[in-house]
Amino acid sequence: MFKSCHKILLSSVVVAATSTVAFAADKTVSNTYSNGKKVIDGGATYPIVNGKTSAYHINENTLQGGYSYARPATPNEMKAWDIDVMPDGTGLPEGKGTVEEGDELYEAKCTSCHGDFGSGSGSFPALAKGNAYEGVKTLTNQRTNPDKDGPIRVFGTYWPYASTLWWYIKTGMPHNAPLSLSNDDVYALSAYILSINEVTVDGEELDDEFELNKENFMKIEMPNKDGFVPNIDGPKGTDNVRAYFADTKNYGNGTRCMKNCFDGKPEIQRIQTEIGGFNPPLSTARDLPKQEESAGAVSEGQKIYEKTCAVCHGNEAMGAPVLGDKQAWSAVLKKGIDAVYKNALNGVNAMPPKGGNMSLSDEQVKATVDYMVNKAK
Ligand code: HEC
Ligand code: HEC
Repeated sequence: MFKSCHKILLSSVVVAATSTVAFAADKTVSNTYSNGKKVIDGGATYPIVNGKTSAYHINENTLQGGYSYARPATPNEMKAWDIDVMPDGTGLPEGKGTVEEGDELYEAKCTSCHGDFGSGSGSFPALAKGNAYEGVKTLTNQRTNPDKDGPIRVFGTYWPYASTLWWYIKTGMPHNAPLSLSNDDVYALSAYILSINEVTVDGEELDDEFELNKENFMKIEMPNKDGFVPNIDGPKGTDNVRAYFADTKNYGNGTRCMKNCFDGKPEIQRIQTEIGGFNPPLSTARDLPKQEESAGAVSEGQKIYEKTCAVCHGNEAMGAPVLGDKQAWSAVLKKGIDAVYKNALNGVNAMPPKGGNMSLSDEQVKATVDYMVNKAK
């Protein structure tokens, strides 16, 4: 559950990153960066309005209702991020790394944000801090009898399974270059972070030479293994949730209350740093005009194309015949327009039926095919 939330976050990060890289001076969503390089995977470029990069410019390419900025992640992008490592070891790859190797990597790639020995810095979270392991000094206890010396919520005091650590580092860290670490790097960093959290593996303390690998990974027992409740998995899931919420000690300060519930309790830390570094600076206005259509009346086919089909047909990344590519389309048309309509309606190979938008009528899909065919004449 926690994992999938992070996942959604991560995939939206990819999209935002792609779109903010692409600064364009013109007002149209185009398939090339302003430097002339081709945008892969249908990325859109955004206009600069009044000297500001506009994140809120309406993007007609969006398939999702509501926000209308950035664009949906493409299947390729989603595949690249679709990495799961489960508590039972599913998805954990071969690999190995020692605490010492992790220490070196940590100093090179993580200290700048997470501080020495995981102590945290500014608004970046600590990865190890406070004493979690002296019997009653648990996070649950912290809510009812707060102790300013900790423990605080860090990796070692909070998460029930080390698989979360592996997965989180692999897909999310370093924050500025996610997916850049090898599997061995991730084993080494996990070993290091477990060691500074004083977690043991099979009763063994993690000294510098300790090597973490696929085999001994499953023997890690996180201190808060039984404190991370309710356990929503399995046939007892619903009962566990009911029992959890029936016990007021499990939330707030232990009594039902409607106001000042956290008086005198430790402050909740929130991450305050926003993504910055836009050049020109990011506009905060949300009233930018809707994107102008290109001159002249726009056909329904073109509108549907831009909304539903451009994400794949705007470039070669998906292997779809690209809009305006005469050679590709004349090859497609050899089988006759009726067969082509049929493929657009029913799908063929990686081409989903109706381009994946089943709310389109057959006539609308055909009109869109006509638009695409005409563009290649
Ligand atoms: C540019 C800053 C930055 C760098 C560099 C960075 N991190 Fe992070 N890290 C963050 C932020 C911000 C969060 C919190 C993200 C969130 O909660 O959404 C985080 C969260 C984490 C967490 C989860 C903590 C928890 O208790 O939930 C782990 C583990 C972690 N980072 C490990 C690493 C490792 C290992 C590296 C080096 C390979 C690294 N980070 C490099 C900024 C950074
Ligand atoms: C998820 C990506 C994707 C989307 C979205 C998509 N297409 Fe495709 N399309 C493809 C791929 C890939 C092919 C090539 C299939 C092949 O020949 O193997 C293709 C092929 C086609 C063809 C040629 C079929 C033939 O007979 O060879 C037509 C026509 C077509 N698409 C129309 C559309 C229309 C219209 C839309 C929007 C309503 C659309 N596509 C949306 C991926 C997509």
